[in-house]
Amino acid sequence: MTNSITRRTALTAGLAAGAASCTSSPKMTPFTAVTEAAGGMFAHGVASGDPGPRSVVIWTRVSPADAANAMPVTVVWETAADEDFTDMRGKGEAQTGPARDWTVKVELTDLDPGATLFYRFRVGDAYSSVGRTRSLPAGAVARARFAIVSCSNYPFGYFNVYDQIARLDDLDAILHLGDYLYEYGTDSYGGEVGARLGRNHDPAHEIIALDDYRRRYAQYRADPASQAMHARHPLIPIWDDHETSNNSWKDGAQNHDPETEGDWNARRRAALQAYYEWMPVREPSRSPESFFRAFSYGDLLTLTAIETRLMARSRQFEYSEIVPTLKTPEDVARFRESILWDESREMLGQAQIDYLDRAFRQSVGAGQPWRLVANQIIMARVNAADLTPYVTEEDIVALEEQWDQARAFVEFSKLGLPVNLDAWDGYPAARERFYSLAREAGADGMIVVTGDTHTWWANDLIARDGSAMGVELGTASVTSPSPYRDDFLGGKGADYALLTTRENEDIRYLSGASHGFIDLTIERDAARAVFRAVDTIEAQSYNAYEQAAFDIDRKEGPARFADADGLGFKQGFLF
Ligand SMILES: [Fe+2]
Repeated sequence: MTNSITRRTALTAGLAAGAASCTSSPKMTPFTAVTEAAGGMFAHGVASGDPGPRSVVIWTRVSPADAANAMPVTVVWETAADEDFTDMRGKGEAQTGPARDWTVKVELTDLDPGATLFYRFRVGDAYSSVGRTRSLPAGAVARARFAIVSCSNYPFGYFNVYDQIARLDDLDAILHLGDYLYEYGTDSYGGEVGARLGRNHDPAHEIIALDDYRRRYAQYRADPASQAMHARHPLIPIWDDHETSNNSWKDGAQNHDPETEGDWNARRRAALQAYYEWMPVREPSRSPESFFRAFSYGDLLTLTAIETRLMARSRQFEYSEIVPTLKTPEDVARFRESILWDESREMLGQAQIDYLDRAFRQSVGAGQPWRLVANQIIMARVNAADLTPYVTEEDIVALEEQWDQARAFVEFSKLGLPVNLDAWDGYPAARERFYSLAREAGADGMIVVTGDTHTWWANDLIARDGSAMGVELGTASVTSPSPYRDDFLGGKGADYALLTTRENEDIRYLSGASHGFIDLTIERDAARAVFRAVDTIEAQSYNAYEQAAFDIDRKEGPARFADADGLGFKQGFLF
């Protein structure tokens, strides 16, 4: 043990020597989240999304008093150039009923590009709240601004991050990168916190059937901060795994047991039906799983929103299955260099590859300087940092109930393998295929934005041959906990983030210190990503602050972080 303490001390000293100058503590601004939700006929608010240059989808749901009678309801929609509806622009009717869970989706057409538009719905004398939306700009576009967000888990806390986004005034769109809701019951992930905060999941059981998923969306959309955010900006969402079930792939999910939960295809169909009923998006003309789209922002950028779960993904390798087979260094090398690299392991699938190829070529051909990719899972290479020199047997035993998992992780960490096989790291050949298509299409200026991990990331994207492909920005969660924060290795998550940053060349910044969203502004020659954080999700009074900020250069070739040498979470105290 003495030996390990000595080594720990040495590493801490090494870090201090390489540390950047001290940063002053961030400026905190106090807020109280909106607490009032809509009620009555339009109790789930309004939303808009999937903008085109001349169109956008608007959404609401009605709650008729006699819903049990199942009579269809006629809903009137109205649009205007002003919030008071004095300058009316359009009006129409839509029908809804129980077959679509009383939701209403209307595609507004014949809009002007880049127009801000207000909309509302009416049934009889009952009006919805007023929503504001925006069509895609066309022609010369000097800047575009996005709020990038993911992993909004209702029981884990208040949606103060959504409250912050609702307060922004000049967003082009919210990019929700998935885990918009979670499938678990109250006896599982988040259940304890949910009980403490009065935010138990509804229904109380894990959601499996169509009615379960619908009820879960209804609960999330009854949240006042969610309603405020959706009413204010158009949404461009992609799903990750929890919209169906944890670690889903083409033919199943880690959290789906066909023995007790039935046919995976039936569950996936139910989950996607509810998704398309409740989300303000266009439904693909292809299969429901093939939910990939592109959005063009004038002469500035093309945003591609990709699908990495349900359409093509091969089953994940699970370390619980793999590690027992890795008995010698040769076994580890064979796994790392050949088993993992199996060419047949799929992520995007050929149809999506072809689509992205066309979208990238069109973007490059139109002279747009940027390609923005909305993506679910970490794309950069991230190996588990070797913890064995720093975590002692006493440390592990001190973890009490988590010690057996911690010991297994510490043992695994010395193998030098990717930390997350559910991420692109578990599909390196498929990642190379994506990089090749981007390279061949001339798609430089690429920024990949990523959710899933509940953790802040700024990463270089580097192909197998060492060439730079672009940059990746990973957003922290709205509420789900980060493994790099407090519940990992008995409170040593921050140290682990620091160690992981130091031992992975491609990582520029990694932190699980807060919840928040990425505020990304893209201009022709440069982009700026501000990681905007909130200091609590356990109360509706909170402070907002800037966790970090990164500039990205747009010169010839791949997008790069400006002043990359100065980046990195060099502050800190290691173990
Ligand atoms: Fe998540």
